[in-house]
Amino acid sequence: MEIQDVRFVKSSPDEISCPQGNLPEYAFVGRSNVGKSSLINYLTDRKNLAKTSAQPGKTKLINHFLVDDCWYLVDLPGYGYAKVSKGERKSFMSLLYNYLERRASMVCLFVLIDSRHAPQNNDLEFIQWLGENQIPFALIFTKTDKLSALKLQQSIEQYKKTLLQTWESFPPFFISSTLAKTGRDEILRFIADTKDSSA
Ligand code: GTP
Ligand code: MG
Repeated sequence: MEIQDVRFVKSSPDEISCPQGNLPEYAFVGRSNVGKSSLINYLTDRKNLAKTSAQPGKTKLINHFLVDDCWYLVDLPGYGYAKVSKGERKSFMSLLYNYLERRASMVCLFVLIDSRHAPQNNDLEFIQWLGENQIPFALIFTKTDKLSALKLQQSIEQYKKTLLQTWESFPPFFISSTLAKTGRDEILRFIADTKDSSA
């Protein structure tokens, strides 16, 4: 699938304010600084569509980008950023949970995982919550340019082992690097394949 046209539609503070209608959408979530906004720019081949930053906590609202007038990419705020107040963290999480529980047109949530780290509790708890709430999701291992092919394989194996302690199967997953430019075709193909069957 090639993307011809993409435009920013709006930033919403909650699910109710999100664009109306029922175009299929794909959202990106994960710990702060994992590379969600960078990945959206890479997938759409636009440099500054989604705002990126070396400082965690850049994305604070639900951002909708309309692709070829027929589907949305959604950039969500990151979770697990230590340097915010407890209250702020709570309001991030309730915004996220509220969006995920209510947004019927969301076909799949991409959960981004930093491929360099061992499974983190906040990611695992979040994935557990997705399962309990039957939210469809896939994993994307990010920043894979930062480790060797062997280390990457070990990292993914460790994730599989951890998730399979509580899950019957491992979800669909992708590996990506916005720096080395890998993963784009696979992710876009997955979107193309699931988008039409969701209509
Ligand atoms: P928040 O909006 O703050 O939650 O962060 P985010 O998940 O949107 O991360 P963002 O895309 O802003 O990227 C965070 C930092 O990671 C930036 O400095 C990016 O340049 C860097 N980064 C993102 N993707 C990659 C990647 O594939 N490889 C490398 N080496 N760095 C990356
Ligand atoms: Mg961001």
